[in-house]
Amino acid sequence: MNTKPQDRVLIFDTTLRDGEQSPGATMTHAEKLEIASLLDDMGVDIIEAGFPIASEGDFKAVAEIARQSRNAVICGLARAQLPDIDRCWEAVKHAKQPRIHTFIGTSPLHRAIPNLTMDEMADRIHETVTHARNLCDNVQWSPMDATRTEWDYLRRVVEIAIKAGATTINIPDTVGYTAPRESADLIRRLIEEVPGGDEIIFATHCHNDLGMATANSLAAVEAGARQIECTINGLGERAGNTALEEVVMALRVRNDIMPYETGIDSTKIMNISRRVATVSGFAVQFNKAIVGKNAFAHESGIHQDGMLKNAETFEIMRPEDVGLAATNLVMGKHSGRAALRAKLEDLGYELGDNQLKDVFVRFKELADRKKEIYEEDLIALMRIATDPEEDRIALVSMHVVCGTEGPNQARMTLNVDGAEQTTEQTGDGPVDAAFNCVKALVPHDARLQLYQVHAVTEGTDAQATVSVRMEEDGRIVTGQSADTDTVVASTRAYIHALNRLLVRREKGGSDKREVSYKDVS
Ligand code: KIV
Ligand code: ZN
Repeated sequence: MNTKPQDRVLIFDTTLRDGEQSPGATMTHAEKLEIASLLDDMGVDIIEAGFPIASEGDFKAVAEIARQSRNAVICGLARAQLPDIDRCWEAVKHAKQPRIHTFIGTSPLHRAIPNLTMDEMADRIHETVTHARNLCDNVQWSPMDATRTEWDYLRRVVEIAIKAGATTINIPDTVGYTAPRESADLIRRLIEEVPGGDEIIFATHCHNDLGMATANSLAAVEAGARQIECTINGLGERAGNTALEEVVMALRVRNDIMPYETGIDSTKIMNISRRVATVSGFAVQFNKAIVGKNAFAHESGIHQDGMLKNAETFEIMRPEDVGLAATNLVMGKHSGRAALRAKLEDLGYELGDNQLKDVFVRFKELADRKKEIYEEDLIALMRIATDPEEDRIALVSMHVVCGTEGPNQARMTLNVDGAEQTTEQTGDGPVDAAFNCVKALVPHDARLQLYQVHAVTEGTDAQATVSVRMEEDGRIVTGQSADTDTVVASTRAYIHALNRLLVRREKGGSDKREVSYKDVS
């Protein structure tokens, strides 16, 4: 008997696992907790919080997310090994609704890595799923690279996993290889042909290498999958995973032809999209569906004329549906503290009195330099104001000389561990000169992996937001800042990353990943 409701599609978010594992997208412990809480609030059904065996840091994050969970099922990833599964259970067991997700690569290429025969792998699957099910009554199993696994073998191992007690079978398109019709056929055949296949939930997990992840996920749903695995902004390795906002809005806008519901409050999409972009350091492309800066902008004359007469002429969804205010011009120089608090609450920030005091000072400084303050400006301000980590290095003052003649020069004073120090350096451009000052005052070997500048709003007085990613000895940290002066924002972002690196160094190797989900042997 089929017990699953036919019209409800579960949303399984893996931003904190598959998304965060993509090179450079590392988040801090506090950021992971914040994103998990936002996901829970927006109605995500299952949050894949991490890969507990990978590092001490991953374990602690999954355990803490499990403890703080309210409505969502909290899931951890484990390879097909008993110690992985035990460690995963130790972390997720604190959740009101825990889930263990265990997997093994089943395609010929993946079977070759642990060097298992088909029969040996089948035995391993039986043993590990049984073990997981003895610990937890909610077990998900994935045949990694399912879309390149021989059909007969896939059918065989899915049946074994179901018999061993898996309650959800996830079918990953690990390398983004499948296409919509094939994605649908695979799910349909598994449901129809595997004994017990109509009694469990089938999930679809697509990567976007050929730009088809959303289409492939929706095709799988039409064929009977009832769980979509996805990430905010499509964050993930290479071309990323299926984007949560795309599948959720597609199911909502085209409910006439895809009559399935999700539990997602779509008005929370923009806020979480911005937070994930900030904390991961992966900016959202301007023309990205649903959450891109241009997704609701109508600039051409014909479009604007049509929009003024009837918004539906060129809009298939309203900006409010995804949490974008119709106008976001919010405040100016004369706005008071209560108005600031109210606006920040609207944007999803709950501040204590002391935090509000700090943010208000920064807001006033900004309002002195910039006439109109938009939502984006406030969000950029909050990026800096909400980082709970203690700073050992702070910018006291800087002065930069740049232009077409002569070397670019920077003079800078930093407060390092309570003592002020000053230097003067040159560089290839003002940012390089400023960064050279930081390096001279705080010598380090960290490698700059990414330096990215964006204008928050339009106009020459716009704030620049800068993201910096640095790597030292396998530890990756990101830093952000915003200022109307691009060189100051860049310097602050660099110092922010450096502060985080010092914290990581002090903690030792605890958050360094020793294991990747690709180490399958
Ligand atoms: O893409 C993939 O195959 C995965 C698995 C670990 C589920 O992320
Ligand atoms: Zn994946």
